[in-house]
Amino acid sequence: MASEASEAGEAGEAGTAAFEALVADLEYPMFVVTAAADGRRAGCMVGFATQCSLAPARLLLCISKRNFTFDVAARAAVLVVHFLGGEDLEVARLFGGETGDQVDKFARCRWQPGPGGAPVLEAGRGWIAGNVLEHVPFGDHVGFVVEPFTGHVGDAGTPQLGFQAVRDLQPGHGA
Ligand SMILES: Cc1cc2nc3c(=O)[nH]c(=O)nc-3n(C[C@H](O)[C@H](O)[C@H](O)COP(=O)(O)O)c2cc1C
Repeated sequence: MASEASEAGEAGEAGTAAFEALVADLEYPMFVVTAAADGRRAGCMVGFATQCSLAPARLLLCISKRNFTFDVAARAAVLVVHFLGGEDLEVARLFGGETGDQVDKFARCRWQPGPGGAPVLEAGRGWIAGNVLEHVPFGDHVGFVVEPFTGHVGDAGTPQLGFQAVRDLQPGHGA
C-alpha cells in the first residue's frame, strides 16, 4: 500500500516535471490587467489568459491570489486588459517584476483613467475593457471571466510580446 502510494507520488512528480518542462517552452501572449476599486488602482502582467468564447466574446484571465492586483480586481466590476507588443518590455518589467505592495506602478508609467476607473496604459497593441462575469477558483490563481464592452486597437502591425521574451523576469510577487 505504502509502495503503491509512493509509486503514485513518483508518477505525480514525473507528470509535474514533464508539465513544467513543456510549459516552459510554450509561446503565448502577454497582457497587463488593470483594475480600480475602493480608491485603489492595481495592475499586473498576466500570461495565463485565453479567449474562452466567440459569441458572446469572453476572455479568461488568471490572477494569483497573492498578487496585490488580486484584491483590487476581485472588488472591481470592470477589468482593462492590455495586449502587449514587442516594444513593451519596460511595461512588462514594471507590471510583472514589481508589486503594488511596494511601489506605485502608476507613478512610473503613462496612463489615464478608463472604464470603471481602471487605468488605461499608454502601451500595448491595444486594449479591451470588460465586465467581470465570474470568478472561478483554479488553485493558486483565480479565473476572471470578462465580457469586453469597449476597447481600442492600436497599430495592427506591431508584433505581440510573447512569454519567451520575458520568461526570465523575476515576478514581483511570489505566486
Ligand atoms: C512571465 C510572467 C508571467 C506572469 N503571468 C502571471 C499570470 O498569468 N497571472 C498572475 O497573476 N501573475 C503573473 N505573473 C506575475 C505577476 O505579474 C507579478 O508577480 C507582479 O509583480 C504582481 O504585481 P502585483 O503584486 O502588483 O499585483 C507573471 C509574471 C511573469 C514575469
